[in-house]
Amino acid sequence: MKILVTGGAGFIGSQVVDAYLAAGHQVAVLDNLSTGKRENLNPAARFVEMDLNHPAVGDFLAQEKFQVVNHHAAQVSVPYSVAHPELDMQSNGLGMLNLLQASVRSGVERFIFISSGGAVYGEQEQIPTQETALPKPLSPYAAHKLLGESYLHFYGKQYGLKHVVLRYANVYGPRQSPHAEAGVVAIFCERLLAGQPCVIYRHQDMPAGMLRDYVYVGDIVRSNLAALDAGLGETVNIGTGRATSTAELYDMIAEAAGSHLKPSYGPPRSGDIRRSLLDCAKARQALGWQAQVDLAEGCRRTMEWYRQRLGK
Ligand SMILES: NC(=O)c1ccc[n+]([C@@H]2O[C@H](COP(=O)([O-])OP(=O)(O)OC[C@H]3O[C@@H](n4cnc5c(N)ncnc54)[C@H](O)[C@@H]3O)[C@@H](O)[C@H]2O)c1
Repeated sequence: MKILVTGGAGFIGSQVVDAYLAAGHQVAVLDNLSTGKRENLNPAARFVEMDLNHPAVGDFLAQEKFQVVNHHAAQVSVPYSVAHPELDMQSNGLGMLNLLQASVRSGVERFIFISSGGAVYGEQEQIPTQETALPKPLSPYAAHKLLGESYLHFYGKQYGLKHVVLRYANVYGPRQSPHAEAGVVAIFCERLLAGQPCVIYRHQDMPAGMLRDYVYVGDIVRSNLAALDAGLGETVNIGTGRATSTAELYDMIAEAAGSHLKPSYGPPRSGDIRRSLLDCAKARQALGWQAQVDLAEGCRRTMEWYRQRLGK
């Protein structure tokens, strides 16, 4: 298949590109390198450095006639979206709209949109949370992910654009930036290897910290392979369905690092959701997918990658 991966220089998108190429597909990457890195680019993929909002996006898709668009590109920082909602809207709202219009006009057969379960559900009573839960976005980032889903629904009904929505849980693994917001695994790995202490943010009534659904990037990549052939018209949670507190996560990473440093504790940051956990039963039916890598193993693999990268 001929596939465009937007955000293909980023942490997750670049590993989806690698897997699509390994499966024999022809792949192009569109990325503005705002957070993506050249070193992540697979040389076997054609690279176009371009912003989602650029008018030339339409011409590019019209020339290339991609069968599949896999849309990973996004402004990914939640605090940034709170501080600059209009700039988040540029990438995650208007940029997506530009890409959708180009996709419809150029005859794209399948649009895979990467949304965020952790963000769109917000704080829910029902844990683990199913796809049918009423979204409660707590940031412009979350609101714009939901807007993207809504546009996709409209473009599907109005123009017949076939699509799959993948709502990721908290993704971790090699290539994640410790400078990103959702990168607690990356942050702990880098700090522990450097012998620096880590902070666990917690609410008073949750002494072990927030609860999250951590899913390994290799599993995420497999869900993108599955979404090439299955799941049309579906919105699907992609996580593990297992909750882990920040303190449990810290212990696993410290063990993988061989570190005996004790963490310190701090108050929650504004907008920190207490509990986020996805019900992933639908992914099994809709995509034939389920997570395979358990968290301790994923932390070991991630730590190994940071060790090699930092020469530790
Ligand atoms: N990391 C997670 O835990 C997580 C969880 C849920 C959803 N997601 C989603 O997965 C996708 C990939 O996230 P990631 O963690 O790999 O982040 P990332 O920052 O590594 O990747 C995002 C990529 O998009 C590119 N980009 C950003 N704005 C762009 C624009 N306007 N035009 C062109 N390219 C642009 C960046 O340069 C970068 O390469 C995003 O859509 C994100 O919202 C990530």
